[in-house]
Amino acid sequence: MTAEQTSPVLDVRGLVKHFPTGKRDQVVHAVNGVNFSIRPGETLGMVGESGSGKSTIGRTVLRLTEPTAGKIAFQGQEIAEMPMAACRPLRADMQMVFQDPWSALNPRMKVRDLIAEPLLLHTKMTRGERRDRTDELAGRVHLSTDFLTRYPSDLSGGQLQRVCIARAIATNPKLIILDEPTSSLDISVRAGILELLAEIKQQTEAAVLFISHDLGTVRLISDRIVVLYLGKIVEYADADAVFEDAAHPYTQSLMSAHLPANPKAEIRRHVLEGEVPSPIDMPSGCAFHTRCPVAIEDCRRTEPQLEAAGNNTHQAACLRILDGKNRID
Ligand SMILES: Nc1ncnc2c1ncn2[C@@H]1O[C@H](COP(=O)(O)OP(=O)(O)O)[C@@H](O)[C@H]1O
Ligand code: SF4
Ligand SMILES: [Mg+2]
Repeated sequence: MTAEQTSPVLDVRGLVKHFPTGKRDQVVHAVNGVNFSIRPGETLGMVGESGSGKSTIGRTVLRLTEPTAGKIAFQGQEIAEMPMAACRPLRADMQMVFQDPWSALNPRMKVRDLIAEPLLLHTKMTRGERRDRTDELAGRVHLSTDFLTRYPSDLSGGQLQRVCIARAIATNPKLIILDEPTSSLDISVRAGILELLAEIKQQTEAAVLFISHDLGTVRLISDRIVVLYLGKIVEYADADAVFEDAAHPYTQSLMSAHLPANPKAEIRRHVLEGEVPSPIDMPSGCAFHTRCPVAIEDCRRTEPQLEAAGNNTHQAACLRILDGKNRID
């Protein structure tokens, strides 16, 4: 079966998350009406600057944070308003790998017990079966079995992240959320972790949400990509289309940050100048209008919706796509 023929593992509609600020009538607009879905075997890359709402979306989908509004269907079952106790049995099927492996792991547990913990919590495996499965998982994340008898403090950041990944895949989950899994690691070990994730993606039928602030990082393993700006999706397309034919001015500016120095680089470097506006006081109209090099008067008033940009699976939210003036260079 191709990915298109199967129903999504995760389908998110109209997701909103606002945090209180402590002041009356004032909230942080972290996530503002987000729609996306991920099918079995598909990896969706989610990209946006720091503060654009990526982690909040990941945490809300797993019900680690309560949504303000919206629907979250997991394997066809609506979970956004499900009582917490009813969510618990789903935990085995939804796993998350966090940015910081140091704080994600109990320092007093041996690596073997850390990897076996999800098996202990969510399966009826015997002690012997858990032992075999733990050895197998260590192999899958290319962690020498010598490390299994050690404590987290004996391992490097990259090795610890391998432990976290082994834990995340231990129960063969249907959904894996990777929240900036390489951002806190030394540059020298990032490529190895990305290669491992690409390898696991080939072996699993899980739906994967891969979150990163860096477009280049998600490129390696994403089938489709969503680009977030201030808690809204501004572009949603096949990974290749994002790299070859970015339609939204914000995506184009993220891309230009990746280009090697060239004669146009100076012009391009100006593109993302200016601060990201506060999600407490959201700009009117198109939220990107305060930084957009091709903004027009209407952008301050009219909020663009995601619409076809290119083929029918490529969508972007920019008023200037209609007149073809959405290119920033
Ligand atoms: N628990 C919280 N309370 C208040 N504001 C929060 C909380 N968590 C996140 N935020 C705010 O929500 C916005 C989105 O944050 P986050 O989802 O962490 O973004 P990202 O992961 O893209 O960097 C930010 O402005 C952040 O400060
Ligand atoms: S709608 Fe206007 S401000 Fe927003 S991205 Fe398009 S041109 Fe720029
Ligand atoms: Mg984050």
